[in-house]
Amino acid sequence: MTRTVLTGIKPTGTPHLGNLLGAIRPALRLASDPTLRAFYFIADYHALTSVTDRDELRRLTREVAATWLACGLDPERVLFYRQSDIPEIFELAWLLACFTPKGWMNKAHAYKAKLAENEAAGAADVDAGIHMGIYTYPILMAADILLFEADLVPVGEDQKQHIEIARDMAQRINHSYGAELLKLPSALIDAGTAVIPGRDGRKMSKSYDNVIPLFAPAGRLRKLINAIVTDSTPPDAPKDPATSVVFKIFEQFASREATDELRRRYQAGISWGEAKAALTDLLEPQLAEPRERYQTLIAEPRRIDEMLAAGRDRARALARPVMDRLRSAIGIAE
Ligand code: ADP
Ligand code: TRP
Repeated sequence: MTRTVLTGIKPTGTPHLGNLLGAIRPALRLASDPTLRAFYFIADYHALTSVTDRDELRRLTREVAATWLACGLDPERVLFYRQSDIPEIFELAWLLACFTPKGWMNKAHAYKAKLAENEAAGAADVDAGIHMGIYTYPILMAADILLFEADLVPVGEDQKQHIEIARDMAQRINHSYGAELLKLPSALIDAGTAVIPGRDGRKMSKSYDNVIPLFAPAGRLRKLINAIVTDSTPPDAPKDPATSVVFKIFEQFASREATDELRRRYQAGISWGEAKAALTDLLEPQLAEPRERYQTLIAEPRRIDEMLAAGRDRARALARPVMDRLRSAIGIAE
């Protein structure tokens, strides 16, 4: 039986090496499994909870779409679309909201984190600066998932709670109407995915301004690699691969042999300049081809828009009967 794997990608930042290794590659690997059909979409209305500059939202949406396509997403095989293009998602979100106890939202991580920030800052109003987009974020996400009857939702650990909420909502609605109206999804969390460190050694993240963008031009890639923070051990002294950012990124991209070879060089004594050159020499040829595809796509935003429009049509054709069934089950339609 073909199972559906579905995930959303928020266009909130220029894609970086951490996104490639933590999200893009694992998702594309899943998409190539013949027993699965993959739905990958750009969660632009989720991004609106944090990106409120219209030009930036437009630019990031295209950058993220072009990145996935350049990395090998085949839009014939994967249903690739923009969340905002599927009105049925927003209709379902309302239905779900009517079955979501407020207490569930009070417990959602993103909201709780904002609340904790306000409390720590001693704010008079603990809800200060928190809008309903953040508060009801899990409802829209559940609609994304349940509308397309997803079986598996590959996400990072931080999103696990949202999938559990989606399951609970589906169960409530099924129970309320005495029918299996919605399929219960499961999170797919790849425990093996390493956290890629950024230039300063913390997790590579746009929030820390320590990223290496996936498609930085060759010269900039080299500069950013050279800017990775290292210690002041003398050039010929042995170095510990386990604590080296350069090594940790290297091993994610290299064969086992190449990794072992670099480890030996670390143990024998390698200068940081040489280690960084080894990383640049490894990455540049791997990134050159997708970078070129990316540049071509980004220069032709119309092509990206056309691909997303084709995905929209296919996705809506699947969404409509599901929504019709629900409308009829709840008494909104005959
Ligand atoms: P950022 O941390 O830059 O804001 P996002 O939170 O938008 O990135 O992450 C998008 C996807 O990329 C998520 O699936 C996340 O798990 C993955 N990801 C982001 N940063 C890393 C990293 N440093 N290492 C591994 N995976 C990452
Ligand atoms: N909330 C997810 C994130 O922050 C993105 C997302 C939106 C998503 N809708 C989804 C992921 C549906 C999986 C399924 O990364």
